[in-house]
Amino acid sequence: MERILFVCLGNICRSPMAQMVLIHLAKQAGVAVACDSAGTSSEELGNPVHPGTRRKLQEVGIALLPHRARQMTRADYGKYDRIIAMDRSNLRGIHRITGGDPAHKVRLLLDHTGRGGEVADPWYTGNFDRTYEDILAGCTALLEELKQTQLP
Ligand code: 4NP
Repeated sequence: MERILFVCLGNICRSPMAQMVLIHLAKQAGVAVACDSAGTSSEELGNPVHPGTRRKLQEVGIALLPHRARQMTRADYGKYDRIIAMDRSNLRGIHRITGGDPAHKVRLLLDHTGRGGEVADPWYTGNFDRTYEDILAGCTALLEELKQTQLP
């Protein structure tokens, strides 16, 4: 089973949303996957998901899982098969924590889609609809990759 870690800055808005969306899509598709999320900063340590993420997931009927924000550790690099960042600033944060990516595990979520780019950050805009659209597109494309690797 693939182990995936989604990473953003605070681990309260984007990465927990991506984690819960992928778990939902994988369950629907019958794909086995182990997912967690973390932040590159310690800013929100121990906090629950942002109300904007909670409301958006409720609106689209995706189950909210228990969550307390945590900071990514160097040890996480060894524990996951894929480490998936929301934006380029997260890539730099991950690099600071891990010191490098010798196994080429670290990628941007939207690199899995044809369009690439960064997941919209709702922290300043309060727009969780755009964030969800980006995350849904990224997780849908990622799930297709996971299905390919799980073919018998
Ligand atoms: P997230 O959103 O990285 O998607 O969880 C943010 C959470 C906290 C902060 C910024 C973005 N902050 O500056 O504390």
